Amino acid sequence: MLHLQQLELLQFRNYTQKRFLFPKRITAICGSNGSGKTNLLDAAYYCCFSRSYFTRPEQTNVLHGAQGMRIEGRFSNAEKNDTVCAIIRETGKKELLLNGEAYKQFSQHIGQFPCVMIAPDDIGLINEGGEARRKYMDTILAQTDPAYLQSLMLYQKLLQQRNSLLKQLQEQKGSMDVLDILSDQLSVQGQLIYEKRFNFITTLKENVLRFYQQIAQADDGLQVNYQSQLHNSPMRELMQQSLQKDLILQRTTTGIHRDDLEFKMDEQAFKTEASQGQRKSLLFALKLAEWQWLKQAKGFAPILLLDDVFEKLDARRMHQLLEWVCTESDSQVLITDTHKERLEAHLNEIGSEYEIIQL
Ligand SMILES: Nc1ncnc2c1ncn2[C@@H]1O[C@H](COP(=O)(O)OP(=O)(O)O)[C@@H](O)[C@H]1O
Ligand SMILES: [Mg+2]
Repeated sequence: MLHLQQLELLQFRNYTQKRFLFPKRITAICGSNGSGKTNLLDAAYYCCFSRSYFTRPEQTNVLHGAQGMRIEGRFSNAEKNDTVCAIIRETGKKELLLNGEAYKQFSQHIGQFPCVMIAPDDIGLINEGGEARRKYMDTILAQTDPAYLQSLMLYQKLLQQRNSLLKQLQEQKGSMDVLDILSDQLSVQGQLIYEKRFNFITTLKENVLRFYQQIAQADDGLQVNYQSQLHNSPMRELMQQSLQKDLILQRTTTGIHRDDLEFKMDEQAFKTEASQGQRKSLLFALKLAEWQWLKQAKGFAPILLLDDVFEKLDARRMHQLLEWVCTESDSQVLITDTHKERLEAHLNEIGSEYEIIQL
């Protein structure tokens, strides 16, 4: 089990300087709105991913009026101890260190300290466009397959290059030969990514359905499908077919950047059919399936960060979920709530040992 033992924050968001200890497997973090609960969980996330869970400009992570910030996390896993340090220097330069040694590439850090966050805004994973779901797939696979992350970064770079070349060609600049080479290179990476996503979703799907059933106590005819243009033809062929279209539209119209995860309920689109409660059940099922996949791949339990989850599910479902998390998951859990008594009552009933941090 990966265990975050300690976090030390310096000029991170609302924290000027503060140290938190997490000696127990379960930590309940309580405090009123705006007291810094989400920020504390996000600091833990930052140590694992070298970035915030939320996509905001890096400078918003620095305490207002201050220059630079630092987050230090101490982890233990089996007999091993590691210190991760994320720094934004006064100049704005970002650094990441593992046991005092700076990474040349932050991507090398990804996957060593797996964690899963469940936060209030996550419902976008179900309600919004495909980008959120591609990010979901990519964040998971990047943690279990470094080669996937390399392919993905290369794909994004090549895609940008190809798109700007398509624009240049419209102005009679650039060369068709270069376009051909870029299309080849892009297809190689795209095909690799497709195959890895395909295998991943086959396993993920089963876990999502199982967790959904467990949380919602019904299957609701839920289906999870991987959508990709690459189901029909290899990416190189797709690109050949769409070449004229790409030249006219000046962007790459086929590829794995158009992939999506489709959710259905009794053959209808989940997005339009499902109730609030069903959406939340699916969201938790997706997150727990993520956790399960990571655990299987890593051979140890990733950290679970649960932010304001009581606001999301009704008390009965929430209690069931918490019981699974605290007794069956064998994971470190950091959980926040505005109501200390509510959280304590649930945890006491479940009977796991826990520590309370009152902000
Ligand atoms: N860069 C920053 N500098 C100072 N305060 C910040 C910064 N970013 C966010 N905050 C403050 O942090 C508080 C929000 O913390 P948050 O963790 O979201 O609270 P909670 O989750 O407990 O409701 C807000 O009061 C906000 O103004
Ligand atoms: Mg919050």
